[in-house]
Amino acid sequence: MNGRALNRQALNGTAPVARSVGIGDAVAATEMPRLVRLEHNLYAACFTVMKLLPARHILDTAIARGELRPGMTVVETSSGTFGLGLAMVTALRGYPLVLVSDPVLDAPLRARLEDLGARVEIVPEPAPVGGHQRARLDRLDEIRKEYAPAFVPSQYDNPLNPDAYTAVADLVHERIGPVDTLVGCVGSGGSMCGTAHGLRRHRPETRAVAVDTHHSVLFGLPDGPRTLRGLGNSLMPGNVEHDTFDDVHWLGAAEAFGATGRLHRDHALFMGPTSGAAHLVARWEARRHPDRTVLALFADEGHRYQSTSGDPHWLRRHGLHLTVLPTEPHTVTDPARVRGHWDRMVWGRRAAPDVARPPHERAPVR
Ligand SMILES: Cc1ncc(COP(=O)(O)O)c(C=O)c1O
Repeated sequence: MNGRALNRQALNGTAPVARSVGIGDAVAATEMPRLVRLEHNLYAACFTVMKLLPARHILDTAIARGELRPGMTVVETSSGTFGLGLAMVTALRGYPLVLVSDPVLDAPLRARLEDLGARVEIVPEPAPVGGHQRARLDRLDEIRKEYAPAFVPSQYDNPLNPDAYTAVADLVHERIGPVDTLVGCVGSGGSMCGTAHGLRRHRPETRAVAVDTHHSVLFGLPDGPRTLRGLGNSLMPGNVEHDTFDDVHWLGAAEAFGATGRLHRDHALFMGPTSGAAHLVARWEARRHPDRTVLALFADEGHRYQSTSGDPHWLRRHGLHLTVLPTEPHTVTDPARVRGHWDRMVWGRRAAPDVARPPHERAPVR
C-alpha cells in the first residue's frame, strides 16, 4: 500500500494497529527518550519519566531471576521519579508497593502514586546525620522486616540501575553517532554512570560532565538544605562511580529554574528543573567546543513543577527569579572554594576520597 492510501485509511479510521504495540504495555512505550537536536552540535535525550527505565529493568530482572515472586511486596524509599517509575511498573505487573518518602513529596505526585496503588509513608523528621534520606532508609529497614520477604530495588546501590542505561547509549550511538561529551544531573548516579559507560563501549574518549547542586555531598561539599531537587544527595550512593567523571558543575536553584524556562521558550521543550540545569551546562560545553558533539540527559517533563518552580510568581515570591542567566561558571580547583550560583571543577576521573585531601596530595588528573 502506498503512503497516500495509508493516509486515507488512517483518516477513515480503518488503519490496522501496528503489530509491535503490546497490550497494556504503557511502560515499554514510555521508557526510552526522544532524541532532539537543539544546536548543530548539541543533542538532548528527553525522557518522559527517566526512572521508569531502571524501575522496569530492576523489577523485570528480579521477576526473571525469581527474586520477586507473586504475593511479595516491593518496598523502596523515594521522594521523586523513581517512586513513580516503580508505581507504574508494579501497577502493570500486579505487585503491592510501599514507598517511604519525606515532606518534600508534593501533593500531585503523592496522589498519582496512590492512584497507582502504592502505599506512601512519610518520615516527618530528618536524622541528625544524613538528613531525611537517612531517616527514610532507617524506616525502610523496619518496613521491609514487616513485609518479609519483601523485594527492595535499592536504586542507590543496585548495579541494574546504571545497567538499564546501556540501551540509551546504544540508541544514541545508532541515531546520532559517537558522542564527545555527555552532560547530566547526578542523584543516584545510575543515569550518568550507566550512559557514560555505554557510550564509552563505542567511543572510549567520551567525556562525562556531572551536574550537582550546592549542599550535596556527592562531589565533596558539606550536606545542607537543597531547594533544587532530583539531583544531589545527602548520602553517598554506591552507584556514583566518581572515576567516571571528567568535570563537575554545581548549580543553584535560581540558575536551574531560569534555564528551565529558557529551554521552554527557545526550544519548546517543557521539561523539569534538572533538565534546565543539564541544558545550562551542556549549552556552555557545546558553545565552548563547536567541534564536539554534546549530548544532554533531560530526566522528566515540566507538568509536575508547573505550580512551583515553573511559575514566575512562585519564583518571585521565593526570591528565585533571575532576569539574566549566567553565561559561564566560576571555575574552582577545590570543592571548598565553591561560591554558589554556578561553580565548576575539573574532576579528572578522580576517585571519591581524593577530594578531601589538599590539592598537592591528590592523584594526578587523567
Ligand atoms: C528529575 C530527576 N533528574 C535527575 C535525576 C538524577 O538521576 P540519577 O538518579 O540517575 O543520578 C533524578 C534522580 O532521581 C531525578 O529525579
